[in-house]
Amino acid sequence: MPSIELRRKDWKAVDADAVLLFVTEERVPELSRSLAELIPAVDDARRSGDLTGKAKSVVVIYAGKAIRAPRLLIAGLGPEARLSLETIRRAAASAAKRAAQLRIQHLALPTPTEDLGGIRPEDFLQAALEGAVLSQYRFAKYITTQQDNGLVERFTVCAPHTAEQRRFQPVVEFTRTLCEGVFLTRDLANAPPNEIYPETLAERAREAGNRAGFSVRVLNKAQIERLGMGGLLGVNRGSARPPVFIIMEYWGTRRSQPPIVLVGKGITFDTGGISLKPAANMSEMKADMHGAASVIGTLYVVARLRLPLNLVGLVPATENMPSGSAMVPGDILRFLNGKTAEIENTDAEGRLILADALAYAERYKPQAVIDLATLTGACVVALGHVASGLFGNHRELLERLKRAGERTYERVWELPLYEEYGELIKSDVADVKNSGGRPAGAITAALFLKHFIGDYPWAHLDIAGTAIAPKETDYMPKGGTGVGVRLLVELLRTWEPLPPDPATSP
Ligand code: BES
Ligand code: MN
Ligand code: ZN
Repeated sequence: MPSIELRRKDWKAVDADAVLLFVTEERVPELSRSLAELIPAVDDARRSGDLTGKAKSVVVIYAGKAIRAPRLLIAGLGPEARLSLETIRRAAASAAKRAAQLRIQHLALPTPTEDLGGIRPEDFLQAALEGAVLSQYRFAKYITTQQDNGLVERFTVCAPHTAEQRRFQPVVEFTRTLCEGVFLTRDLANAPPNEIYPETLAERAREAGNRAGFSVRVLNKAQIERLGMGGLLGVNRGSARPPVFIIMEYWGTRRSQPPIVLVGKGITFDTGGISLKPAANMSEMKADMHGAASVIGTLYVVARLRLPLNLVGLVPATENMPSGSAMVPGDILRFLNGKTAEIENTDAEGRLILADALAYAERYKPQAVIDLATLTGACVVALGHVASGLFGNHRELLERLKRAGERTYERVWELPLYEEYGELIKSDVADVKNSGGRPAGAITAALFLKHFIGDYPWAHLDIAGTAIAPKETDYMPKGGTGVGVRLLVELLRTWEPLPPDPATSP
């Protein structure tokens, strides 16, 4: 990841390859006037019509000897009335990408001085750094034929005065850690399935725990058998690699305060099993552990920031493979909570491993449980790659997730859990079956999970569409997006105990 640092320096005096300024459409004249003496070329750019402040436009100005850096980049924010954290992220991403094309390695930016379009300077800076840093991601570790990766390596925030330093240092530190979490999640999701399989995923969780300060316990196959996690074992039957169940614990406040539990789907490769998937694009299913990666990334950020709450991460991990020993349609599995499910389709495997993890979560008597899973193609059909599916049993928890989604732009859209959909997953021979066929596929998957939750507030995020991007956009790379980390950190950073839910409490 590029470095981000705060320096006690005026932006005019900073020794960088370029300085980045932002401007809304309305404020172009004001900006060029204020720089008229120092850098007359800014006003030339305005008069020629190049400098407009249009959203995502970037103008490069050669600043002469007036400032220390050789160039100025002026990024357009669009009209002030439409300014949002997201337009700032996108403007910053455009600027950082242009900088990278120009082979700029070190980009500096001044701290914002006043509210703009109702956005506080702290929030402006965070959004700008997020957009800039997150746009400089590439999964390049296996590419051996290029040495210059052409990415910005260093961002310097210029805060010349002590008061500003004090004000913005926490923002820089927070955003750095947040972006590290997103990069970690993207790296895990993008890593090939011969690098990340259950045991190596557990190793990477251990490393993250050591760096950030959370504990990691890894249950092996024998321990999983002793517990009776029939879902995880059933999915694992076709695989040559053993499953793991990863338990991550961060205790940031009194032990007596119940934790929030995050559960992440950790299918390190999903072939579909005996209900084999078609060959086209099957390699995307290396990211079928993105939910797990998001949970690891979130624990990393929360623990590094020492947020004052208790947080547990649970990751059931296995491959889903066909073989002579694989689970077959018609099999009946028995889960940790004693319930049974008939296997209708071995490709509906995510819900089977989540079922055991959701049942396990009850041991913590948690304040809330949130699971993240690349669970259904049906969710991609419903919401595309734009929003994650949201489901759950607790109104306030769902509303909080929606608010965090709007703020981070990791948007979520609620789908109903009407009882009638339950008809689709009734089984003649077991408590439930693992597929209801095509209708309402994202909902029936969530309803399946609901059979296995304990007595706690629960939310389920189907990230099948948002975890794997079909193409690069703004600050999102193609492939693993890192979705979930910014959403959950936003939810947790101001976490308050949930009120009882009228619909679910007696
Ligand atoms: N991992 C897939 C869902 C998926 C699809 C994630 C596309 C990301 C992109 C999941 O395990 C799966 O195969 N679900 C099946 C369920 C069906 C058999 C009921 C699906 O969606 O087709
Ligand atoms: Mn599947
Ligand atoms: Zn899957």
